[in-house]
Amino acid sequence: MPLACSELQTAKHWKSPVLLGVPRPEDTICEGMVGQSAVLRNVVMQLETVAPTDSTVLICGETGTGKELIARAVHNLSTRRAHAFVKCNCAAIPISLLESELFGHEKGAFTGAVAQRIGRFELANRGTMFLDEIGEAPLELQPKLLRVLQEREFERLGNSRTQRTDSRLVAATNANLPEMVDTKRFRADLFYRLNVFPIQIPPLRDRPEDIPVLITHFVHDCARRMHRTIKVIASATMDALVRYSWPGNIRELQNLIERAVILSSGELLQVPLSEIDEASKPRGAQQTLEEAERAHILATLKKTRWIVSGPRGAANRLGMKRSTLQFWMKKLGIERPPESDEATHLM
Ligand SMILES: Nc1ncnc2c1ncn2[C@@H]1O[C@H](COP(=O)(O)OP(=O)(O)OP(=O)(O)O)[C@@H](O)[C@H]1O
Ligand SMILES: [Mg+2]
Repeated sequence: MPLACSELQTAKHWKSPVLLGVPRPEDTICEGMVGQSAVLRNVVMQLETVAPTDSTVLICGETGTGKELIARAVHNLSTRRAHAFVKCNCAAIPISLLESELFGHEKGAFTGAVAQRIGRFELANRGTMFLDEIGEAPLELQPKLLRVLQEREFERLGNSRTQRTDSRLVAATNANLPEMVDTKRFRADLFYRLNVFPIQIPPLRDRPEDIPVLITHFVHDCARRMHRTIKVIASATMDALVRYSWPGNIRELQNLIERAVILSSGELLQVPLSEIDEASKPRGAQQTLEEAERAHILATLKKTRWIVSGPRGAANRLGMKRSTLQFWMKKLGIERPPESDEATHLM
């Protein structure tokens, strides 16, 4: 007897084929956002709290986690919803054009400005301005962004008359802005002005409980569009999908499900699992490069009974100078255990 997908919380319950069924309305928790994890509910609570205010919102999260969906939800739940939601992706527009895109220009302001152009801050008047990938905003443009945020003022290129904008700013980034501030790649004053109400969206791997309901939602959506009937997913497939780390987050899951629906001729969802090979490995089985280096050095030191130098020493076996090995031991926190004192004199 297949289990209903929405009843399942963890992989250990998936003993029988999983019935995909119809998405439950209660799994769409806000403005098209599907999920049932406590962390996603917390994100929704934050956005519902801040949306009716006019405060600047900074949405942070890895690629594909739903930053734009949240930005639109902030707008739709605000008093500005009857006005425009204007998006500008700072990474997608060439630096030379970004200023005129945002603030507009007069005819003849620069070579190629054949007509006047209204900037996006003007278009967003009384609505919401969404600055996507704010971490990519060029340093030379950041003072102007700070001014428009603080004073609500700007000038069109080629026109000295100051314009005012009544737009609410929502920004998003997948960059580590505090680190960019430390390394002088992002202005500290702009960061603090943006960081009024930060919303951090957790990656999908940190909320695996959302995966089954997202799968049901995407399968249902794709199957309807493609006029297919897909009812069941193999429990092992569901298990693999929940264990996968989803570096591309929800967008990656959405795309994989779309391919799966295309490939499925019957009622069973055929997921091309070879595309996510990593899913077959248990979580945590992957090592970082540093962990692998540490394990290799440690194993070599044990083999040489903690003799570092000399022809039979670990440095020689590892093909490095004694001082280099000692540097790496220090960096990786490798210390000789007390019982190997016998080798001390040889180092
Ligand atoms: N909770 C969710 N429920 C349903 N669909 C979602 C959810 N979160 C994201 N999506 C969908 O996943 C896709 C990616 O979302 P979105 O574009 O908002 O991500 P993003 O964080 O802005 O990504 P990027 O950093 O790559 O721009 C979209 O199709 C979106 O509708
Ligand atoms: Mg985005």
